[in-house]
Amino acid sequence: MSMTVRRLTRAATAGLVAAAALTAAAHSAEAADTLGSAAAGQGRYFGTAVAANHLGEADYAATLDREFSSVTPENEMKWDATEPSRGTFSFGSADRIVDHAQSQGMDVRGHTLVWHSQLPSWVGSLGASDLRTAMNDHINGLMGHYKGEIHSWDVVNEAFQDGGSGARRSSPFQDKLGNGFIEEAFRTARAADPAAKLCYNDYNTDGVNAKSNAVYDMVKDFKSRGVPIDCVGFQSHFNSNSPVPSDYRQNLQRFADLGVDVQITELDIEGSGSAQAADYTKVVEACLAVSRCTGMTVWGVTDKYSWRSSGTPLLFDGNYSEKPAYDAVLSALGGSGDPGDPGDPGDGTPSCTATYTRTADWSSGYNGQVTITAGGEPISSWTATVTLPAQQSVSALWNGTPAWSGNVMTVRPSWNGTLAAGASTGFGFTVAKNGSDAAPAIGTCTAS
Ligand code: XIL
Repeated sequence: MSMTVRRLTRAATAGLVAAAALTAAAHSAEAADTLGSAAAGQGRYFGTAVAANHLGEADYAATLDREFSSVTPENEMKWDATEPSRGTFSFGSADRIVDHAQSQGMDVRGHTLVWHSQLPSWVGSLGASDLRTAMNDHINGLMGHYKGEIHSWDVVNEAFQDGGSGARRSSPFQDKLGNGFIEEAFRTARAADPAAKLCYNDYNTDGVNAKSNAVYDMVKDFKSRGVPIDCVGFQSHFNSNSPVPSDYRQNLQRFADLGVDVQITELDIEGSGSAQAADYTKVVEACLAVSRCTGMTVWGVTDKYSWRSSGTPLLFDGNYSEKPAYDAVLSALGGSGDPGDPGDPGDGTPSCTATYTRTADWSSGYNGQVTITAGGEPISSWTATVTLPAQQSVSALWNGTPAWSGNVMTVRPSWNGTLAAGASTGFGFTVAKNGSDAAPAIGTCTAS
C-alpha cells in the first residue's frame, strides 16, 4: 500500500470512529464519572501513556478504555522505534496504539520527533548538512503518516540542561546545528501537519527556575518572531527529591500568558496513600486554575508497568484497583464516584486495602509488615487476615490485636483503628520459619 493511500485510510477511519464514540458517550450520562468524563466536564482531556504490548491484556485495555480520553505512545513513536535506519520507517506498534485510540474516540498526543535519547546511532554519526536533512525527513515521515490524526506533537523534547545555567543540552542536533535546530524543527512540523498543535516538552521546568526561565525565554522569542509554537508540555515526574513545586500554577500561568497552551504531559508522583493523593490534588488544581492548561496525561495506566515501578507513582495499583490518588484526582476534577464502588470519594462506604512486605529476613525467621490504607472515606476500624504456610508460627505481633483460627491470623487494630480517607497505618509480626520460607497470604481488608 502506498503511503498516500494509508494516510487517507487512516484519516477517513478516524472521522467515522469519533462520531460513533460521541454517540456512545451521550448514552452514559447517568453513570459514575471517570477521569476522562470528569475532565471533559472541566473542558480538559485526561490521558495516559500507553504501551502497545499491553493492549492485549484485558484489564489493561478495560481500564484504559473506561477512564482515559487521550493517549500518548510511551515509546512507539520515538526515533529508534520509527526510523531505526535512515529512510526506513516502521509504524507497526504506533499504528496499533493510534488505531486503538481511534476505536475508542480518544485523542492521540504524538511523542516525540526530535530528542537526544532513544535516538539510533546512525543519526549521531551524520555530518551537519546530512543531519539537517535527516531531521526534517524524520519529522515529515512521522507527521505525514499521521497527518490529521494527532492532537498535539512534542516536536522537540528535553533540549535544555538541568542545573542553574539555562544552557542547551548537548545532542547531535545542538552540537552540529546549533540553537536554530529547534526553530527549524517547528517550522518543518507546521508545514507537515497544520492541524496538529506543536509543543515543546521538558522536565524540571514545572516550577519557576533557571531551566524553565530558559524555556520561557525561547517561547517568548518564538512568539515575537512568528516561529510556530502552540503549546508547552510540562512532564511533571515528581518524587521526594523533586516534589510538586509550590509555584507550579504560577509557572504554568506565565507560559500561558505568552499565548501558548500548556499541558501536563507525563505526570507521575512516587509515593502512596494520602500524601500521594494530596500531591495529585495539587497538580490537578494547578491545571484547572489556568484556563489555557488544556489537559493532563499520567505516564502509565498501572503501577506495575510504570517506568518507575518501585515508586508506585500512578493512579491504579498493580491489580487495576483505584488508589487514593485516583479518588483525589476524580474529586479535584469535580467528578463523583460510583456509589457501588467502595473507595470512591463521597460514596459513604468505608473501605481499606492491605499490602504486605517482608521487612527483615534471617535463616530461622522473618519480620512481616502489613500496611492498611483507608479508601475514599474515613474509617474507625479495619480487619485484615494473614494466612501462614502450615509450618510457620508467629512469635510476636505489634500495632495490632490477633485472633487465631488454625493457621489464619485475623488482625484488628490495637490503638490505630481510626484513619482519615487515604491515610495509612499498619501492623508488624515476627515469624518462625520452621523450615518454610514461603510468604503468607494477605486476605481482603474490610473497614467500618
Ligand atoms: C520513558 C519510558 O517511559 C520508558 O519506557 C523508556 O524506557 C524510557 O523513556 N521523559 C520522556 C519520556 O519524555 O519519553 C520518557 O519515557 C520518560 C522521561
